[in-house]
Amino acid sequence: MPASESLCPAEATPMRIRPLSAPLGAEIDGVNLSQPLPLSAFAEIERAWRERLVLVIRDQRLSDPELIAFSRNWGELDPPGPNPYGAPFLPEHPEVNVISNVVEDGKPIGNLGAGEAVWHADMTYIDRPPKAAILHALEIPPSGGNTYFADMFAAYDALGADMKSRIQGRIAIHDASLNSAGQLRRGYEPVTDVRQTRGARHPLVRTDAVTGRKALFLGRRTNSYILDMELAESEALLDALWAHAGNMRFAMSHEWRRGDVLIWNNLSVLHRRDPFDPTARRVMHRTQIKGEEAVR
Ligand SMILES: [Fe+2]
Repeated sequence: MPASESLCPAEATPMRIRPLSAPLGAEIDGVNLSQPLPLSAFAEIERAWRERLVLVIRDQRLSDPELIAFSRNWGELDPPGPNPYGAPFLPEHPEVNVISNVVEDGKPIGNLGAGEAVWHADMTYIDRPPKAAILHALEIPPSGGNTYFADMFAAYDALGADMKSRIQGRIAIHDASLNSAGQLRRGYEPVTDVRQTRGARHPLVRTDAVTGRKALFLGRRTNSYILDMELAESEALLDALWAHAGNMRFAMSHEWRRGDVLIWNNLSVLHRRDPFDPTARRVMHRTQIKGEEAVR
């Protein structure tokens, strides 16, 4: 998409949307997300999200109610998945998840710690996974913890014709037992046979309901299994697809600054995170938006 500029009446400053010099992603400036957005400005933001899949908006300072109010522009909020501790991190705002390594009074204030998070999409283990995720950086470490996003439309387009026909119509199980840091969720047992994995079943090829474009839809590798396939064949095919999907030629990286808001198209990208110094503080608040039924 070309860079665009429009006047945002509530701010009386121009909002600018500029594609990043990466296969996906756009940066927006001239917008204050703590204020109600004019419909026309939100429509432009949503269009950029649909086209560029990841939006970066710097220098925001949103309270939780402001983050929730902005998030509601996108649709109905989807509550966070169960965390390993069995209770919301923010009881006053249970729709807001906390991504953090910080431990206070012996209790983690958020999810995922400081380790690497491998390529995944969020909560694809439910039947209607969230369509968008919004992550606001409140505290970030001096280095490390970069997040990477990979475009699954581009990954699908780049597959050979043979591979496209091999995966067309195939359904995979998306594991519900582990979070993206590999921690076992409360109420789950470790998976010993991936053919018995608990979690939603989705087509490997997902068609976007609005654009009709096809994307690879992989969710997460661990404990995945392609239905009606020999186990070894499923493992080999999944390994090949994951090696392809995580290629950096489909990806962008994001180096976080305090105040960043990132919004991504959860059903059309994978994301992963570098580890960071566990003694540094990283605190992010996060919402997600309920997805629509996928076209199959
Ligand atoms: Fe995630």
